[in-house]
Amino acid sequence: MGKIANPKLEAEGKKNFLWAKDHMAALTTLSKRHGAGRPLKGVVVGVCLHVTKETSALIDALVAAGADVKLAAANPLSTQDDIAAYLSTMAEVWAWRGQTAKEYDWCIEEVLRAKPEVLIDDGADLHVAAHRAKLGSVLGGCEETTTGVVRLKALEKEGLLRYPIVAINNARTKYLFDNRYGTGQSTFDGILRATALLIAGKTVVVVGYGWVGKGVAMRAKGLNANVTVVEIDPIKALEAHLDGFDVMSIEDAAPRGDIFITCTGQKGVIPFSSVPLMKDGAILANAGHFDVEIDTKTLLAKARSVTAVRPNVDEVVLPGGKRVYLLAKGRIVNLVAAEGHPPEVMQMSFANQFMSALYVLKNHEKLGKRVLDVPPKNENEVALATLDSLGISIGSATKEQLKYAESWSL
Ligand code: ADE
Repeated sequence: MGKIANPKLEAEGKKNFLWAKDHMAALTTLSKRHGAGRPLKGVVVGVCLHVTKETSALIDALVAAGADVKLAAANPLSTQDDIAAYLSTMAEVWAWRGQTAKEYDWCIEEVLRAKPEVLIDDGADLHVAAHRAKLGSVLGGCEETTTGVVRLKALEKEGLLRYPIVAINNARTKYLFDNRYGTGQSTFDGILRATALLIAGKTVVVVGYGWVGKGVAMRAKGLNANVTVVEIDPIKALEAHLDGFDVMSIEDAAPRGDIFITCTGQKGVIPFSSVPLMKDGAILANAGHFDVEIDTKTLLAKARSVTAVRPNVDEVVLPGGKRVYLLAKGRIVNLVAAEGHPPEVMQMSFANQFMSALYVLKNHEKLGKRVLDVPPKNENEVALATLDSLGISIGSATKEQLKYAESWSL
């Protein structure tokens, strides 16, 4: 069973899987260390992730640990169809690029129909659907991203959470690398593949200065752009200022920017009212999980015309005749117009996913119905395995130093 675009892409998918896996040695090491005894034997694992070459390395690890994997996509436009074809040889895959909203929901329902015991999610659509269906089979789960953790914390606050969920996003081995370096690089990968324009000398407006915004601003600076940050949190705004960026409101930034990149997880951070203030030809891209950060609904409803001028570039002509260019339909640009984060970063996020899936399955009875952090011991193991994969060895504290670090008398 399952539904994908084209099974004939399997061989191409296998090559891309091997390319990613070869650059994800930390995941391989940890999956061998913890998965060799097949701790997931016969366990149905429902997965909702972007179906990429990096995800294929995680699915391979889960299957090697004995899991019966049912996979749906975490975005209607991000599936790499060759990878979906290759993964169909080892798992049930419900994913293809270019799904309608209805098809997207249907694929998630198909995953839940298999009565999964563990759920691995990115954005919380799978968890929320399991909660709406009051699915009794689920013992525990994991959540990959900032937006998903926010939604699950809201469920927890209302006393509605049905099982323990590990917030992968809150692990330092996730957000310091995936959110910052992964999104920083892959967002520009997407913008460059879509537009093929020069970044140097342009004014890039980064909306949001969390870990994603920090990474995007850093990469923009590295490409010699002039960087402006829009941030409403006073502490993050100060941080951006002391990091050397211009900081202002979206209304003030609108007439200055050549390229706008949303990085907030919040809706309407580029409101329609700011778009007519922009320069003719301004480029709008979103790096957040959902397509709500740029108010594309109003933008498209008010547009005089919308024309696809290149893959992933829509020219939107405003009522006054001004043009703006919307990338990837306002969806997550790094996964729609490029291939998402590089494997060296995803090995950490997915090693956390793999170990947390085992942890939550083993300990679900005592963990309670809570959103939990990755255990610090696991985090250290992921960091050490990643250093090792990169050929870096570090020292450790002496006995005297450990004692000194815990003493008050010195
Ligand atoms: N999220 C961001 N980049 C990704 C990737 N390469 N694979 C899966 N999920 C991702």
